[in-house]
Amino acid sequence: MGLERPFYILAIESSCDDTAAAVLDGDKLLANVVNNQEVHRKWGGVVPELASRAHQQQIIPVVHAALNDAKISKEQLHAVAFTRGPGLPGSLLVGAVFAQAFARGLNIPSIGVHHMKAHVLAHLIDEGQSIPDFPFVCLTVSGGHTQLLRVDSPLKMMILGETIDDAAGEAFDKIAKMLGLPYPGGPEIDRLAQKGNPRAFKFPEPKADGFSFSFSGLKTAVLYLIQREQQKNPNFLEENKADLAASVQKTIVSILVKKLEAAAQNCGIPRIALAGGVSANSELRKQLELLRQKGYDVFIPPFSYCTDNAAMIGVTAWHMLLNGYTPKEIELPLARWSIED
Ligand code: KG4
Ligand code: ZN
Repeated sequence: MGLERPFYILAIESSCDDTAAAVLDGDKLLANVVNNQEVHRKWGGVVPELASRAHQQQIIPVVHAALNDAKISKEQLHAVAFTRGPGLPGSLLVGAVFAQAFARGLNIPSIGVHHMKAHVLAHLIDEGQSIPDFPFVCLTVSGGHTQLLRVDSPLKMMILGETIDDAAGEAFDKIAKMLGLPYPGGPEIDRLAQKGNPRAFKFPEPKADGFSFSFSGLKTAVLYLIQREQQKNPNFLEENKADLAASVQKTIVSILVKKLEAAAQNCGIPRIALAGGVSANSELRKQLELLRQKGYDVFIPPFSYCTDNAAMIGVTAWHMLLNGYTPKEIELPLARWSIED
């Protein structure tokens, strides 16, 4: 398959609660449209059935908007990339069926992409910035995953450690719910923490082995603290919300950064990257800047490529093709799919 430029890729992401489409020329982004589904807010978390229904309603307008923004007609496309997994089965199905039918209609190949690999490879979207050399160590932190990876090439990633219970984003979201904050709670805690004292409350850090993470103990510690203090003062939560947010954020970030630095040291790799929705967190970004001062090369994606988007799906498909990947006839979505496959 010829890969000369221009090579226009339409990319589609629908693994969770964002319906997203992007258009790229190889690794250069031409359009990036993300429609976040508002319907979940009132339920305090993603409702899978509502998510797939909203994807069905949004996918055509979102694709249309991306092609419009890129000023590319569908006949000019060379390939269609889509998120094959991991993710919510119904949500994945909408994107996978649409993308493959669209590609078949145009007689062009379709490429199923691993969502977590794509979060890592968002760093390769070419905007003239410096790009990490391989191998590098990547901390992938999202609502569903917390993984420390050694990234050897665009296609080969090894898990050094991962969470044994909740993902970091899930911990942010669940604790935010205890604080009475709306979903998704991560950005809400981040915002509130700006006004709080991170040393107001001290929470224990878990003793997970090696490069594994654990966040369920923190969640329980916060719950017990709130329950205990509310018995003495019914207004405890309202009066201490910002301090609680700042202290929780500091603890989660400290757990993440300590393991990340230890993993980089252990691998003897001085290049560190962040990926996934939680890398939008301001305290995490601040702590990574400190690692830069210690001599590490640190790569932090722009905000818009941290949370779910289709640009990362498109750039991953491009690198799969560059590395000799042969597109398949039909690919069923995979709700579970190891990043090492
Ligand atoms: O990667 P992503 O968009 O979706 C998944 O694949 O999970 O990540 C979403 C997660 C949510 O848990 C959300 O609360 C968290 O990323 N998040 C944040 C921030 N922005 C998004 N967590 C902490 N601070 C933020 N600023
Ligand atoms: Zn994601």
